[in-house]
Amino acid sequence: MLYSLVRKALFQLDAERAHELTLQQLSRLSGSPLKGVIRQSLPFKPVNCMGLTFKNPLGLAAGLDKNGECIDAFGAMGFGFVEIGTVTPRAQAGNDKPRMFRIPEAQGIINRMGFNNHGVDRLVENVIKARFDGILGINIGKNKDTPVEQGKDDYLICMDKVYPYAGYITINISSPNTPGLRSLQYGEALDDLLSAIKIRQGELQQIHQKYVPVTVKIAPDLFAEELIQVADSLIRHQIDGVIATNTTLDRSLINGLAHSDEAGGLSGRPVQLRSTEIVRQLAQELKGRIPIIGVGGIDSLVAAREKMAAGASLIQIYSGFIYQGPGLIKQIVTHL
Ligand SMILES: Cc1cc2nc3c(=O)[nH]c(=O)nc-3n(C[C@H](O)[C@H](O)[C@H](O)COP(=O)(O)O)c2cc1C
Repeated sequence: MLYSLVRKALFQLDAERAHELTLQQLSRLSGSPLKGVIRQSLPFKPVNCMGLTFKNPLGLAAGLDKNGECIDAFGAMGFGFVEIGTVTPRAQAGNDKPRMFRIPEAQGIINRMGFNNHGVDRLVENVIKARFDGILGINIGKNKDTPVEQGKDDYLICMDKVYPYAGYITINISSPNTPGLRSLQYGEALDDLLSAIKIRQGELQQIHQKYVPVTVKIAPDLFAEELIQVADSLIRHQIDGVIATNTTLDRSLINGLAHSDEAGGLSGRPVQLRSTEIVRQLAQELKGRIPIIGVGGIDSLVAAREKMAAGASLIQIYSGFIYQGPGLIKQIVTHL
């Protein structure tokens, strides 16, 4: 009820302006005596995954809190885990605005943000200040002006910096908005990257005396053959988890709607079935050897159950949260 009023006001604004205002207010609220306004007490529904205990299986997907400014606020709303980022080694502005568009008729969002973020050092400062007692995922990427051939170095720089503070680290190779990034999902480029990440994970484990799982986030637009190769590579490199999926380039389900021709990645209801199908195919290939975090278009308890029935151990939401607010967290966590 309350969120429907807030949403009405926010949806009058440009999508990115609404996003910025919300984050500002949440960050203020979580440090004030009014923080009770956003708190939701939800049942404890623990899930053991990647050697970690999640207090419930529902997480916030990457991209909403890119700099880790509102970790405590999202924790208070009841998320079992919060994934911040994508963060890059150096701060960068991202693409020109406007770059985020609502497609309300389809409960979708198109974005071409382009990893706008304040850089990994600022993110780590924010993480150190946070009090969230759930699992914190930190999603890392490469700067736009780093050539793809050297992209690996950017992931390693970020990994070194976030390792001591992360519950798990996500290697994002599936954003459609950084030129060439998705090429890291294929063949030798993928093997090369994962091999370097795995070696560095071992070194960091020695230095910090703790094991931080690494997940890889993939696109929904992979063909079946490509998906089989990705799964094979994840197994060979003993990656700890896979997040499926990021946004899609496919526009077939929103043809003719306002903004449907905007460049970028499409999320929300229009990617739901495709993401679930990827989770299902991955589960078939992985046979329980690597857990799957399912994300894409979860907008109800039933959609959440479908992702889990397809093989996800944990799930995340972004667009559904924009359209429905914290009530969606309560609905899913209470009944899942
Ligand atoms: C505006 C926007 C920005 C996003 N930024 C990121 C990002 O920085 N890194 C990332 O891994 N995913 C990012 N995503 C993708 C989401 O994490 C998620 O994978 C995708 O939106 C599908 O889930 P949904 O349908 O619940 O939104 C972004 C999505 C949106 C809508």
